[in-house]
Amino acid sequence: MAYLPNPARYDTLEYRRCGRSGLRLPAISLGLWQNFGEKDTLGNCRTLLRTAFDAGITHFDLANNYGPPPGAAEETFGRLYKDDFRAHRDELIISTKAGYGMWPGPYGDGGSRKYLVASLDQSLRRTGLDYVDIYYHHRPDPNTPLEESMGALDALVRQGKALYVGLSNYPAAEARRACAILRELGTPCLIHQPKYSMLVRTPEEGLLEVLAEEGVGCIAFSSLAQGVLTDKYLQGVPSDSRAARQLGNGAIEEGQLSPANIEKARQLNDLAGERGQTLAQMALAWVLRDPRMTSVIIGASKPQQITDAVRCLDAPRFGDEELGRIEAILAGKT
Ligand SMILES: NC(=O)c1ccc[n+]([C@@H]2O[C@H](COP(=O)([O-])OP(=O)(O)OC[C@H]3O[C@@H](n4cnc5c(N)ncnc54)[C@H](OP(=O)(O)O)[C@@H]3O)[C@@H](O)[C@H]2O)c1
Repeated sequence: MAYLPNPARYDTLEYRRCGRSGLRLPAISLGLWQNFGEKDTLGNCRTLLRTAFDAGITHFDLANNYGPPPGAAEETFGRLYKDDFRAHRDELIISTKAGYGMWPGPYGDGGSRKYLVASLDQSLRRTGLDYVDIYYHHRPDPNTPLEESMGALDALVRQGKALYVGLSNYPAAEARRACAILRELGTPCLIHQPKYSMLVRTPEEGLLEVLAEEGVGCIAFSSLAQGVLTDKYLQGVPSDSRAARQLGNGAIEEGQLSPANIEKARQLNDLAGERGQTLAQMALAWVLRDPRMTSVIIGASKPQQITDAVRCLDAPRFGDEELGRIEAILAGKT
């Protein structure tokens, strides 16, 4: 049946300005790293994308290697885009990335101009898009001069294949250098995509300061710690959970569910209940408490996870006492 999006889709979600750019992103974005590969049913993928768009999520995050196998998530997105979203192209911000191993030989990995240019052409073919909104270098490459990687991003914007460029997984000092090179080239860096959650605090060690100074937005990934910062693993490991599915490619495994983190999740879950939220909602709201954060990219295997997430800012802002209690739980001092 033809997809008719919810007419009220822009009524509830907050849209935040991305750094000093003119672009606003939804506070919650949807990532296609997991659950959009060959093993996943097209019907569920369709439901997830429609649920997100109906809830006001205008930003879908891809990468060349998302699947499995690599490339599959872009192909899945391309099929659904053709069926459901082509008429809404100008309402969407689609990102993709290159930087991890994608094809054999010396040109399918890293940060060379050769790799970044060829990979975006492949991504456009798989998705059926004429251009992506944001093209990221997925990780720094110590074997390629930053000038070459940033020069490739700038060239792709000038060719009309990307509207904006971003960095992912760049430490603070390299991010600052990359931003300076991009500014000099006339293609300012739009956004940085780091891992950031209650359990992974690295961006607080300098990166967020650099991004604020440079006027660059910040969009966090794995802010639910792949499900650990939800109530999902509090009573064991459900058979349909990511940890049980042995997905590989960086997906969390059962052995990584440490008893210490599950205990923290249990205490955080109680605190979330006091706030009238689910733990997932509190974990997302906690990342978004910092005004330097533009958005959080969630992953989802079920539509309810999306509708749950978009209501994360409904509860009152965190008070100092609550933030202190969260810090104490995270430090294991309770
Ligand atoms: N730039 C990078 O290097 C990089 C790396 C990783 C990810 N990312 C981006 O960030 C996106 C999100 O990453 P992620 O999947 O690790 O994020 P996440 O939001 O931390 O984890 C998502 C998973 O948590 C579970 N979940 C979500 N909501 C839940 C709820 N309300 N209750 C219970 N369980 C819930 C689901 O797993 P189940 O399958 O168990 O239901 C879901 O697939 C990716 O898709 C990608 O776009 C980028």
